[in-house]
Amino acid sequence: MTDIDLTPLKVAMEEYAPQGRTALLPALYAAQEIYGYLPEHVAAEVARSLKVPLVEVFGVIDFYAMFYREPVGKTVIHVCNDPACAMAGSEPMLKRLTQHLEFHAPDEGFRPSVTIERAPCLGLCEHAPAVLVKGKPIGNADLRTWEEIVENTGHQPGTILGGSISLLTANCGRGQKVSLEEFVNHGGYGALRKALSRTPEAVIEEVKASGLVGRGGAAFPTGVKWEGTARATGSPKYVVCNADEAEPGTFKDRVLMEDDPHTILEGLIIAAYAVGASKGYIYIRGEYLRAYQIMQEAVTEARKAGYLGAAILGKGFDFDIELRRGAGAYICGEETALFESIEGKRGFPRVKPPFPTTFGLFGKPTSINNVETLANIPLILRMGAEAYHRIGTEKSTGSKLFCLSGDVMRPGLYEVPFGTPFRDLLEDLAGGIRSGHTFQSALFGGAAGAFALESHLDVRLSFEDLRTAGLPLGSGVITVFDETRDMRDICLRLAHFFAEESCGKCYPCQMGTQRQLEIMKRVLDGKSLPGDWERLQDTGWTMTDASLCGLGQTAASAVLSAMKHWPQLFQVPETLSR
Ligand SMILES: Cc1cc2nc3c(=O)[nH]c(=O)nc-3n(C[C@H](O)[C@H](O)[C@H](O)COP(=O)(O)O)c2cc1C
Ligand code: SF4
Ligand code: FES
Repeated sequence: MTDIDLTPLKVAMEEYAPQGRTALLPALYAAQEIYGYLPEHVAAEVARSLKVPLVEVFGVIDFYAMFYREPVGKTVIHVCNDPACAMAGSEPMLKRLTQHLEFHAPDEGFRPSVTIERAPCLGLCEHAPAVLVKGKPIGNADLRTWEEIVENTGHQPGTILGGSISLLTANCGRGQKVSLEEFVNHGGYGALRKALSRTPEAVIEEVKASGLVGRGGAAFPTGVKWEGTARATGSPKYVVCNADEAEPGTFKDRVLMEDDPHTILEGLIIAAYAVGASKGYIYIRGEYLRAYQIMQEAVTEARKAGYLGAAILGKGFDFDIELRRGAGAYICGEETALFESIEGKRGFPRVKPPFPTTFGLFGKPTSINNVETLANIPLILRMGAEAYHRIGTEKSTGSKLFCLSGDVMRPGLYEVPFGTPFRDLLEDLAGGIRSGHTFQSALFGGAAGAFALESHLDVRLSFEDLRTAGLPLGSGVITVFDETRDMRDICLRLAHFFAEESCGKCYPCQMGTQRQLEIMKRVLDGKSLPGDWERLQDTGWTMTDASLCGLGQTAASAVLSAMKHWPQLFQVPETLSR
């Protein structure tokens, strides 16, 4: 492709060149939009414009699943293959679609009309099986041909919203985002006004007193994190909203962004005021195109209305937000990998310490929070820490969003106060197990989680109760399995997910995830070898103990939990053990 016309690319690069390397991902997206993929000449022009070595541009392109160095179809279809979608029939659908595709295979040298790819969880698990067509979601997809898929583009049924309390989801579930006008008419940006009338220290104290802990998985106290950033020396300071949401089974942040974007912006602006940041980033996973567009519109509206920019609400506080799209790498949800990605690099996690509060984005003090964490902030300021603290349990305050998928009658997003028994959520709110079937287990915490059994049905959903029961709360994912499901197949899918998503920076995880996948394949095929049980345990514990970041440290969690609950499924078959 040497006769490629670089003129439109050169024009597009004028916007990105002044920013340098940090603009690499947006620049690659823009280039791919023009040419459909990123051939060498295009990559070289991007490298030249941004002054990044070409070899590093190639490194970045290869790291992210949504950038292509080879031609792909004008229509790219992603078919989710993770547990909730697999249980709803994505595997036979994929087979049908790819069989049909053979008749449409283009002659060599031409751009194919369609590319169909297996994808990890698309964050549409409540609509399983889920498919993305050119970035647009199709839920409950039971399609036979790709033409049928293309004609259906854009059909995303509304998410079932439920629960026993409606604080974080008060503005959700209308099938469209809440407009700025409506938001403000119902008290929106009132919490920001309140915050700006106080000192940053007082805002941090209020958040600390609320007992809010992070909803992104690590449950770190938010106020303490903010205080660390506020006290750190170094400037400028940054706040970052982590909207990467790629844990299989999770879709809560997508619903919040699509339905109630201004609440998240309000939370982030208050965070910036509290820690003394002048710039914020919202990093949204690449597959969430709709959420990205809605957040972008909301940022523009907020800027026009004076909630962002110079002298916000007439006070001496300047702050603005930039949106970034991820490009198909689960590891970029890990906070330091996310910073690297914003900086225009491959998403390799950094060694901690130093922690982001002192050495974060661009090496500066940074406070990073999950979308749901930030959605709690306006609420806390509006109702006051004391009233907020009364919701939930003593140690887990407030309400929590749970993403229920799999074999439940009503898969969807449920908001409940912490401390609600799992049984109430599953049976009363989500309608119980799909009809005619019984409960076998539930995966808590996503791919990095552990399995709950029937004996866990009465566990209360709080950090402390779940910890005692040996179950992670994670970011609030619960995938439910009835008695018909082969748990080895679920474990194989999770092992596949980690083997694909390991970034490869450290050996325990790079090799361990591959070995785990190989052994799980033998287990599922009934071809386990003598010693496989020990090998699987050894690999799992080595990853858990010796990996550099949370991905490797939890990559064996579900498999080890399954081995504990169902040891018979992992035994060497009689014929092989002799
Ligand atoms: C592999 C991996 C993936 C992660 N993915 C996400 C994610 O998608 N969203 C998120 O908010 N946090 C994610 N985290 C946690 C973040 O590193 C970080 O703890 C979080 O953004 C902090 O926000 P919080 O304190 O508000 O929870 C991930 C962590 C790991 C190890
Ligand atoms: S644990 Fe896995 S994902 Fe994390 S740094 Fe090591 S190889 Fe990368
Ligand atoms: S969208 Fe398929 S498992 Fe989440």
